[in-house]
Amino acid sequence: MEQTQKKVMYSAVQPSGNLTIGNYIGSVRNWVGLQQEFTGIFAIANMHAITVRQSPAELRRRTLELAALYLACGLDPEGCILYVQSQVPQHAELTWVLNTITYVGEMERMTQYKDKAAKHADNINMGLMDYPVLMAADILLYLTDYVPVGADQKQHVEIARDIAARFNNRYGETFRMPEPYIMAQGARIMSLQDPSRKMSKSDENPNASVYLADDKDTIIRKFKRAVTDSDNCVRAAEDKPGITNLLAIYCAFAGCSLAEAERAFEGKGYGDFKLAVGEAVADKLAPVQAEQRRLLADKAYLNGILSQGAERAYRIARKTLDKVYRKIGFYRGE
Ligand code: TRP
Repeated sequence: MEQTQKKVMYSAVQPSGNLTIGNYIGSVRNWVGLQQEFTGIFAIANMHAITVRQSPAELRRRTLELAALYLACGLDPEGCILYVQSQVPQHAELTWVLNTITYVGEMERMTQYKDKAAKHADNINMGLMDYPVLMAADILLYLTDYVPVGADQKQHVEIARDIAARFNNRYGETFRMPEPYIMAQGARIMSLQDPSRKMSKSDENPNASVYLADDKDTIIRKFKRAVTDSDNCVRAAEDKPGITNLLAIYCAFAGCSLAEAERAFEGKGYGDFKLAVGEAVADKLAPVQAEQRRLLADKAYLNGILSQGAERAYRIARKTLDKVYRKIGFYRGE
């Protein structure tokens, strides 16, 4: 991979649950917009996914679906590296080394760990606790400059920085310091049923989240049922979280500003507005869904892209891991 002057941007998504329009607006679509400016490295984090129970068949299917989705959204497989995490063994290898300079107490304090441990109380496995170290390994292997993340992952990027600094301190300059990259247009998409909570791919209420795989009728029905308020005036306000969220979604999908959207729906009722939001979302997703289906039907092409991605990722990761092994004094058969 030609490492010109472009900065490296690294991100990953777990192939667990179905992606929502929140994931689309907050991550995948943004990466596509940033791939000119940065060298993009994008992983499908299946090793992270197994920290909670997964059905093997589903995990495999979702991995390919996610790869097809990235491409359908416009990720250029020549310009950036798209690969599956488990196909590059250095992720697990570097995690082991980083484990030895990471403290149990630090991991126990991670917010996401505490949440997940509470949610999966019957399966608090070592991997769940080690999740942030694997994520640090992901980021540090590729000498990443920026990690585009939402608020919920910021703590993980910070711990990756702490671990990198600790390693560099102890063994000499090795890792580049990654920085969280906060998206300019950081619309946070909230649940349609409880607008105080983030829209999630693992919500139990299927009406709470709009999935990228939903068809037009489903999308329109979900928006019709979205929780709002009784004042029947389409404007954003702190005491109108439901309508504010729908406006944010409309703006993101129709490509307009909040002021423009408010003007467009002045004097209109919630029924009309909700239908317009549903249509804007469905119309934007239709070509992406069609392209994803086309790609999924062409397994040979997809497999080719992913094996090329894994090879390119491997070449970078191996160099970093070699350096790490040298620094820590691992025998290398000289
Ligand atoms: N933990 C991230 C999430 O669930 C996914 C992830 C894994 C990631 N490795 C990463 C994100 C490295 C950024 C960089 O959203």
